Amino acid sequence: MIKLGVNIDHIATIRQARRTYEPDPVVAASFAVLGGADIITVHLREDRRHIQDRDVRLLRETVFTKLNLEMSIADEIVDIAIKTKPEQVTLVPEKREEVTTEGGLDVVSQKNVLDKVVKRLVDAGMLVSLFIDPEEKQIKAAKEVGAQFIELHTGNYANAKDENSREELTEKLRQGINAARNLGLRVNAGHGLTYQNVGFIVESLDVEGLHIGHSIVSRSVFVGIQKAVQEMKDLIFRHSMAQHSSG
Ligand code: PXP
Repeated sequence: MIKLGVNIDHIATIRQARRTYEPDPVVAASFAVLGGADIITVHLREDRRHIQDRDVRLLRETVFTKLNLEMSIADEIVDIAIKTKPEQVTLVPEKREEVTTEGGLDVVSQKNVLDKVVKRLVDAGMLVSLFIDPEEKQIKAAKEVGAQFIELHTGNYANAKDENSREELTEKLRQGINAARNLGLRVNAGHGLTYQNVGFIVESLDVEGLHIGHSIVSRSVFVGIQKAVQEMKDLIFRHSMAQHSSG
């Protein structure tokens, strides 16, 4: 069964709109786990626009499934990861002015620095995943710098305007998965996935896990986060079954 990583950053976005104590992402994480989240993901951004250092510390104490820390490769953040020891870290590119992570990490052009950062994180006992676009040179570079996982960026797939481009982008993701597997990398996927588009991805791609944030948090405003996670888990389950029975 494909694992579901739930990104709860935007619970913290609501809190930070008033810089108050509610809603608390630490509480949200517990309800998300009750709803079936296999992994809780938070992105500790350098500008601390949503998740705060205190959230990461408390989540480390309270999340008993798996904690995945999304992060840039800034020294300060790498030091926090090593001190906190989440089960997994996902390295992403980070730009101050972006609304969300815009593209995959350019592993090729940052190979020297990533070599060192990935080694520090792996030596500290974490699984390291690199968020990249499905390009062969990036996948090869991810392997070369010592990552165990890649997370393939599904944002372009999610934004596809018609069936043809969706199918084309899915084929690119498929090829990326095959290339990664041939190198012995484990593969997740995420970004821009919703209740509407996740089914096609589940039926088309053989990945270990999907990382989903905005759509689940949006639904949770109306139905609560436990139910929103449950509904996403059910969708993933139903589409996995459909894939197995047709394949
Ligand atoms: N994966 C990565 C690496 C991300 O940066 C994000 C966004 O924080 C997600 C998955 C989740 O994306 P979305 O919020 O669009 O579901």
